[in-house]
Amino acid sequence: MRGPYAALLLLLGLLLLLLCTATSICFGLNLRNSEVRYIEEERQALLKLKQSLQDDDGLLSSWGSQEEDCCNWKRIKCSNRTAHVVKLDLRGDRYSEPSKYLYGEINSSLLGLQHLTYLDLSLNAFSILPEFIGSLTKLQYLNLSNNYLSGTIPPQLGNLTSLTSLDLSRNYGLIEDHNLDWLFNLSSLRHLDMSTVYLSKVVNWPDKVTMLPSLLDLSLSGCALSMPIPPVLFNANSSSPLSIVDLSFNYLNSSIFPWLFKYTNSLVVLDLNYNELEGSIPKAFGNIINLVHLHLSSNYFEGKIPQSTLENLHYLQVLDLSQNSLSGEVPDLSKLTFLSELHLSKNQLNGSLPNVLGKLSKLQVLDLSLNSFEGVITEAHLSNLSTLRQLDFSSNSLSLKFSPSWVPPFHLDTINLGSCNLGPAFPQWLQTQKNFSWLDISNATISGTIPNWFWDLSFNINFLSLSHNQITGTIPLQWLSSRFMGSSTIDLSDNCFNGPLPRLNSNLMSLNFSNNLFQGSINTSLCGTNGSVTYWYLRYLDLSNNSLSGELPNCWANMPYLFRLDLAYNNFIGSIPNSIGSICNFTENEYMLQMLRLEYNNFIGELPKSLMSCSSLIILHVGENRLFGRIPAWIGTSLPYLKVLILSSNSFTGSIPLQLCGLKYLQILDLSHNNIVGTIPPCLNNFIAMDERYYNLESITYSIPYYNATFQEKIIMQFEKDIYFLFKVIDLSSNKLEGEIPREITSLLGLSGLNLSNNLLIGIIPQNFGDLNNLEFLDLSSNHLSGTIPHSLVDLIFLALLNLSYNNLSGRIPFGYQLDTFSYSSYVGNTYLCGSPLSKECPENAATQGPQTSSKHDTDFYEHLWLYTSIAIGFIVGFWGVCGSLVLKSSWRHAYFQFLDKMGDRLYVTIAINKAKLLRNFKSQCYQENT
Ligand SMILES: *[C@@H]1O[C@H](CO)[C@@H](O)[C@H](O)[C@H]1NC(C)=O
Ligand SMILES: *[C@@H]1O[C@H](CO)[C@@H](O)[C@H](O)[C@H]1NC(C)=O
Ligand SMILES: *[C@@H]1O[C@H](CO)[C@@H](O)[C@H](O)[C@H]1NC(C)=O
Ligand SMILES: *[C@@H]1O[C@H](CO)[C@@H](O)[C@H](O)[C@H]1NC(C)=O
Ligand SMILES: *[C@@H]1O[C@H](CO)[C@@H](O)[C@H](O)[C@H]1NC(C)=O
Ligand SMILES: *[C@@H]1O[C@H](CO)[C@@H](O)[C@H](O)[C@H]1NC(C)=O
Repeated sequence: MRGPYAALLLLLGLLLLLLCTATSICFGLNLRNSEVRYIEEERQALLKLKQSLQDDDGLLSSWGSQEEDCCNWKRIKCSNRTAHVVKLDLRGDRYSEPSKYLYGEINSSLLGLQHLTYLDLSLNAFSILPEFIGSLTKLQYLNLSNNYLSGTIPPQLGNLTSLTSLDLSRNYGLIEDHNLDWLFNLSSLRHLDMSTVYLSKVVNWPDKVTMLPSLLDLSLSGCALSMPIPPVLFNANSSSPLSIVDLSFNYLNSSIFPWLFKYTNSLVVLDLNYNELEGSIPKAFGNIINLVHLHLSSNYFEGKIPQSTLENLHYLQVLDLSQNSLSGEVPDLSKLTFLSELHLSKNQLNGSLPNVLGKLSKLQVLDLSLNSFEGVITEAHLSNLSTLRQLDFSSNSLSLKFSPSWVPPFHLDTINLGSCNLGPAFPQWLQTQKNFSWLDISNATISGTIPNWFWDLSFNINFLSLSHNQITGTIPLQWLSSRFMGSSTIDLSDNCFNGPLPRLNSNLMSLNFSNNLFQGSINTSLCGTNGSVTYWYLRYLDLSNNSLSGELPNCWANMPYLFRLDLAYNNFIGSIPNSIGSICNFTENEYMLQMLRLEYNNFIGELPKSLMSCSSLIILHVGENRLFGRIPAWIGTSLPYLKVLILSSNSFTGSIPLQLCGLKYLQILDLSHNNIVGTIPPCLNNFIAMDERYYNLESITYSIPYYNATFQEKIIMQFEKDIYFLFKVIDLSSNKLEGEIPREITSLLGLSGLNLSNNLLIGIIPQNFGDLNNLEFLDLSSNHLSGTIPHSLVDLIFLALLNLSYNNLSGRIPFGYQLDTFSYSSYVGNTYLCGSPLSKECPENAATQGPQTSSKHDTDFYEHLWLYTSIAIGFIVGFWGVCGSLVLKSSWRHAYFQFLDKMGDRLYVTIAINKAKLLRNFKSQCYQENT
């Protein structure tokens, strides 16, 4: 009996053992079939990780739902051999439309994945850089770029000794590091990208990075790097085989060269754009014979383009010398037979273009803009350039003269011929170009009408500018609406187009039809026939300075992302529709309307209450209309970011609401030429922006949502082209204000213009008026002011215009400094004033009547004040376009603005353009043409 029982028991025991083993395996290794295996702990770690992440866009939706086996989840890869998770790809897609990304916390459960070799967290919106990543010691690839990570780099990263690729770049300058010591052990590292990590404090950074024996590819763009002072001796025996080096957007000077030229044998790509390199281009570049890309743009190089140096670089494909101070003619570069991009823009190059350019038959990009080239370009110059895609001759003194029947050998996608001489006829050869997405033929001396074929072009145009020509005629009504154009910018401003506006297209991003002779109602053009078009992309709509008429339409809710609306200088009538506020109804703050200009029309009625929802408004300009009613108190409470408020030349009544004093960012307040009564509220000194003595130099504007300094940059430049300011003006003139000038006004130390003329003010000019020492314009004329002129006015050293005439002032006119430059007209009409420049001498001398005032000075005064106001508007728009909605952290500023700073010189160009533009005097050209 024992035998069989024993055998049974044994069998049972064996079964049990088998079961146990199987279950114990189940807890760890899961063997469902021979193909699919995973490790439960790692599965749990992934689920925990998912729990801690915010995944609004469902990037991880495949995790844990139906599928047990985590190795089959998306974005995960397991090892075939060990079943461990080895790859985790959590890359988001933050810059796409619509964007998709993860945010929230990266849970330390990630450490459950000890076998990870590949971790990509880029393009999400994470803000914490977790130290514990340093414990994933098997990592070979780590990408943390394009998040909002901040703080100092955790030295634990130095434990990742297997890393071959590390990317910490483009976290908005929020990451910094002081010594880079953690790099020391990363001896396998081949690719290192720390662009926009703030490294200004790392003293000997060149040695730190080149200690890495395997480093091939180094990007330290926008890291605020400067050269060590005093210069250190670079470690002679560093052994990195560096072949790609990007040190652009830093503060490097020519003492970087000895370090750089140690890599002469290995360098293939070198980017030194936007630094402080000066002198002539070193001959030693000629020894880097394997160089394929050379970027030296935006430095201070001068002298000639060194032909013999460049000729050695047989493999060169991209040569960028733009934005330096190079002079002379373009040398013969025909030995560079592989050259595909030549960027020479914005230097002082001159001469006529040598025909040899035509020998560069591989050329795809030719950018010679913003130089002093002159002469005539003919077919011969371009006849061999059959691969050319981008052509930029803009802003030279070049004339392009082709025979009307010329068929170019190329098909361009980018055509920049602004400010070239193309006219007077519309360039016929453009008809052969079937693929361009960018066409700029602004200011190109084109006049007359546009041939019909142009309106029929129907491809994907991103940018089209015909502005500043003298083009006449009407635009086919369906031109925009019947054609597909990707989110596009269209600028037809400053021409002589007439007739009705064409129907808009829902893909438009920016439309500028200003300074033409367009007529009629804008109703169908904007709203379509049934009002159902939604303009999801429209950010900028400028129809100003035309002859448009009728009432404003009611379809403003269809423009949810409109950012600037300019309808000024037309003949619109009727009330400002209450629906205009619906532009602001359903968008997040950062996209909300910031500029509304309706001045110089015939609008009647009150300011619509719906504007209360436009809480992001920076500029509200409704001057020169027929608006009436009290100045709404809600302006002061609902529009807290206003910098410019202009209600002038309407029929507003009542007193100045005290709530306006809440506008602490206000820089221009113009309530002139209304019927406003009451006193000037002393709380005006709450305008803290006006109180700033110095202009806030940090308020530089420049919009690069992407860190792409090539082509994209230009698109954005064109769109966000205005800059910052700054004049600070209060104009309350020509009302019925009474009472005294509140002495509080003298604490607005930044004030540059003050006009209180033509009111009923009494009392004295506050004694400490001289405190306002940025004042350039002061007009207190035609009031009932009495007492003496405060001697402190002598302190107003910038004062350019002064008018105290027609008051009851008395006593001696103070003199000295600027005051000596004003004539009698500044003081006339004050019976008891005496002394120079009035001819009435002071006591004891015989009084004589001065000559009558000429009104010349007064007119000048107003023109100047208006001019200043206009300029300021143009400047301010831009800044708030970009930064107004961002909370600027100081760490962000120091790296990022340094990068932006370097754009400064470009910005000045656009300032100049804006000045001209805001004067709105271009129409005269058309009228002259037409008459
Ligand atoms: C792992 O398995 C996949 C699919 O079964 C196969 O494509 C891949 O080559 C394998 N990898 C290795 C290293 O065997
Ligand atoms: C990770 O997640 C777990 C549970 O989801 C939580 O208890 C823990 O606090 C998280 N860890 C961190 C560091 O947030
Ligand atoms: C990782 O690095 C930190 C700081 O550098 C160090 O204190 C720690 O001991 C390291 N850990 C391992 C496991 O090497
Ligand atoms: C137009 O071109 C001329 C020279 O061709 C230049 O002087 C002028 O500044 C340009 N105007 C604009 C607005 O670009
Ligand atoms: C906009 O909001 C206002 C007030 O909140 C509301 O009266 C109006 O109907 C809204 N307009 C649209 C188009 O949603
Ligand atoms: C920059 O723009 C160019 C041209 O549009 C594009 O090819 C390139 O990939 C962009 N670079 C980045 C980093 O987005």
